[in-house]
Amino acid sequence: MVADAPDYARIDGAGLTLVLALARSGGADIVYAGARLPAGEDLAMLAAASARGHHENQPDAPPRPGLLPEAKGGLLTSAAILLRRGAKQVATDLRLSAWQAEPGALTLDLRDEAAGVEVRLDWRMGKGDVIACHTALTNRSAEPLAVEHLASLALPVPRRFMECTSYWGRWAGEMHETRRAIAPDGLTRQSRGGKPGFDGGNWLLLHGAGEECLGAHLAWSGDFATRLECDTAGASDNAAVLQLAAYWQAGEVVLAPGETFTTPEAVFALAPDRSALAQAFHSYARGEVLPQREAWSPRKVHLNSWEALGFDLSEPALMALAEDAAALGIERFVLDDGWFAGRRNDATSLGDWHVSADVFPNGLAPLIARVHALAMDFGLWVEPEMVSPDSDLYRQHPDWCLHLEGCAERPTMRGQLALDMARAEVRAYLFARLDALLREHAIAYLKWDHNRTLFPPGAGQTQGFYALIDALRAAHPQVEIESCASGGGRIDFGVLTRCTRVWPSDNNDAIERLRMIPAWSQFLPLEVLGSHVGPSPNPITGRRLSMDFRAKVAMFGHMGVEADPARMTERERETLAAHIALYKAWRGVLHRGALWRLTHPDPNIAAMMVVHQGTALALAAQTAFSPMFDAAPLRLSGLDPDARYRVSLPEPWPAKAQRYLARPDLWRTGITLSGAALMGQGLALPLTHPETAWLVALERLPE
Ligand code: GLA
Repeated sequence: MVADAPDYARIDGAGLTLVLALARSGGADIVYAGARLPAGEDLAMLAAASARGHHENQPDAPPRPGLLPEAKGGLLTSAAILLRRGAKQVATDLRLSAWQAEPGALTLDLRDEAAGVEVRLDWRMGKGDVIACHTALTNRSAEPLAVEHLASLALPVPRRFMECTSYWGRWAGEMHETRRAIAPDGLTRQSRGGKPGFDGGNWLLLHGAGEECLGAHLAWSGDFATRLECDTAGASDNAAVLQLAAYWQAGEVVLAPGETFTTPEAVFALAPDRSALAQAFHSYARGEVLPQREAWSPRKVHLNSWEALGFDLSEPALMALAEDAAALGIERFVLDDGWFAGRRNDATSLGDWHVSADVFPNGLAPLIARVHALAMDFGLWVEPEMVSPDSDLYRQHPDWCLHLEGCAERPTMRGQLALDMARAEVRAYLFARLDALLREHAIAYLKWDHNRTLFPPGAGQTQGFYALIDALRAAHPQVEIESCASGGGRIDFGVLTRCTRVWPSDNNDAIERLRMIPAWSQFLPLEVLGSHVGPSPNPITGRRLSMDFRAKVAMFGHMGVEADPARMTERERETLAAHIALYKAWRGVLHRGALWRLTHPDPNIAAMMVVHQGTALALAAQTAFSPMFDAAPLRLSGLDPDARYRVSLPEPWPAKAQRYLARPDLWRTGITLSGAALMGQGLALPLTHPETAWLVALERLPE
């Protein structure tokens, strides 16, 4: 304990306070995490009010996890720091050696002189009262120090949080929620494929009393290790410890004498309910994660060639697709897989990033010129980290892929291998190819894909990916990049400091999206969630859905189209074009406002709304056939109870359901109601038939 350290430190946000006791167990304990406390709060009394007495059969000095639990003192949860020198585990006993508190930030230095280890913990209150934490470790001995595990965040969880929601999924089925009790099992989640994967295990919710919740995330695009462990032996007000860490291969992180290693950042936030938590994460993402968010232009409507043409590409077919796209009001034309080298199917040519002379005898220029003439900009799909065994790149550099030395077999996935991104020459090759493409063509956007898991694993793979994408962004700052990994396999705040969009899933089925968009938007603002109208029947689920339903659902995100307009009926094209126009009119609200998660007594009705400066748009969508003639009214949120709003239902309306509107004339011109009535009583919308979605527009009236 440092001589001049106070006993307590507090970190305040706009609505949140954390209080830490600095004097205990050589580190710091959380004694309070919750709604903002008054300035004069007596922190010693606060600690006394949460202190716990000694029980029989506990260690005489009951262990406390602190902010970096170590394998010492009888603590039965996992250590947040595990180090090794040669074959020997380093038994640390870290003590507070220095501290620094600034408004909204706390830095703690811990030292174990005998072990030659120094640790710095940085906690900072960011935008939206999201707390960002990382850990830095310095090797102060003359021997190399191997890091087996080092948590970015080891949060002693206040005892009132008794349940958690974690996420799981698979390709085309991302972000399923499971809610369960924390005690006694806790939760262990780990990714091993070299990216966060479809499992969503780097996102987590804890639930406290009432609606209160805590959201946590690791901002890292590689493997993670999430642990939520119950502390049954401890004597603190913390029921569990939540650790968020990157997962390192054995020998991946070894510090030379004097060297410092900094973990990726972890973030967490507490909020009174799930809407408030979403808003907190969104303001953090908008203010501190997304690159130059303030300077973004409106999110353009995409048309992507993948579900329209697949590998069946030709200049005339793409020209025709571009014409049809422009007629719908599309603003960005994206050429997906199949444009390069011999890539006429998915078994070949990854790595050969040259425009295919077969598909484009005159190069890409004529297509891009046509796209521009149609007032759209041009985007291109790439998958830089991959190589096909059948490619010139692989034939020239068979050693550039991840492989086991001496092992003849190189197991593929989707017929492809992964490049070793830790190798500077691999990155230099990729930079040269991508840089040339971007210099030679007017490309406004790259869809950066990553379609296989990494086996064998590659040390330094994620750092290599970051180095490449950072170099390209520096050279081409105007190019927007989307993170895709067969859909939502690489979505995190690490990649989102470099990208302006993610591809939440390959599954465009609107009913699946009605589950996924609320799950992703618990953490991510709508403007980064690619949201496309796909074909019907959906190629993945086989489900047929009306255009009206598909288009309304797709509006709540960064809207696009992933289907061939030539295969739509005239009526479908009109409906789609009308919704694209609506999206353009509303994106300023959807992409800047506060998202409210709406609940409805019918579990088959999904609803949400976005409120921005007195204007709001809600979506309510029914997926099943209701047992009632009339669904319960939809209650809105986030409005000023005393203000009056004009409420209308933007057209086009769902074909069948509109028959059940009692006063269509009024819904067209607008009904005037107070915020209190809209939030308390709600709106009686015809929501009893499957595939029925309504948009509700609200405009605050002057006093
Ligand atoms: C991945 C992406 C798709 C598409 C294909 C192309 O699956 O998620 O959107 O780009 O690759 O091969």
